[in-house]
Amino acid sequence: MKPNDSSHNIPAEFEDLLSRAGRQVLAGTHPLCGALADPRTRFVAREDLLDRARVGRLRRALEANLCGVLEPLERPIPPETISEMRRDYGELLPKTSRARTIYFESRREPGVKAAEKLGLVRLMRSSSFKAFAEALAGRKLAAGWGLQVLRYGPGDYAGPHNDHHPENKDAKGGYIDLHLSLCTPGVAHQWLVYSRAGHFSEIVSVARPSTVTAYRLPFWHYTTPLAGKPTAARWVLLGTFLYR
Ligand SMILES: [Fe+2]
Repeated sequence: MKPNDSSHNIPAEFEDLLSRAGRQVLAGTHPLCGALADPRTRFVAREDLLDRARVGRLRRALEANLCGVLEPLERPIPPETISEMRRDYGELLPKTSRARTIYFESRREPGVKAAEKLGLVRLMRSSSFKAFAEALAGRKLAAGWGLQVLRYGPGDYAGPHNDHHPENKDAKGGYIDLHLSLCTPGVAHQWLVYSRAGHFSEIVSVARPSTVTAYRLPFWHYTTPLAGKPTAARWVLLGTFLYR
C-alpha cells in the first residue's frame, strides 16, 4: 500500500487539534482545569475545545481509511436474563453494546496497522493528549495509556455499565477516560446518560461534530442508540489513563 493521502490530515500532536479554549485547558489557564479533581464531578462534556475544521478533516480521514478494518463489537442481551429469571423484579443485565471497533491489544491487528499507517496512533500517543487529560484530571497520569477506536452507526449503542475493573490492581481505585467524539453531519441524536447520587438523572448530547468528554470512572452510564441517516456515524477516539 502506498503512503496514505489522508495522513497529512492527522496532526502528530493532539495540541494541533485544539481550539483556543482547548489550548487554554492545556496551558492550565481555563476554568475547566482540574474539573475532575472535584469530588462532585465525575464527567465533563464540551463542544468548544476542538478546532472544527481540523476535526472535520480528521473524521473524513478516519471514514476513508478505517471503515474497512473495523471489527464488529456485539454484546447482545443474553436471552437467559429472561428465560432463567426466577424472581419477580430480579432482572440483572450484563453490559450490552453494539458498535465497530479497533482493538489495540495486538499490533498485528489489521485495524491497528491501518491506524498506525494513518498517523492516528501517533496522535493518540502524543504527549499533549496525555497532558490534556492531566489538565482535566487535575493530577499526574501514568505513561502507557490504553487506546480504543469506536465507530457507532445507526442503532449502535452501549447499555448501562460502570467501567469498574476490580480485578485490575492499577485500575480498581479509579481512572480517567478521555474521549474525542466526532460525528458526521447525518447524526440526528445520540445521548450519554449518567448517574448522579444513585439515579440515571443526567443526560448530555454526544451528537455534535466535535465533542470532548472526560470521565472519572467508575460510575454508571449508558449511550443511547445513534439515530440519523443510514451513513451517519460517530467516531470515538478513547484514551484510558491510570493514575500515577
Ligand atoms: Fe463506558
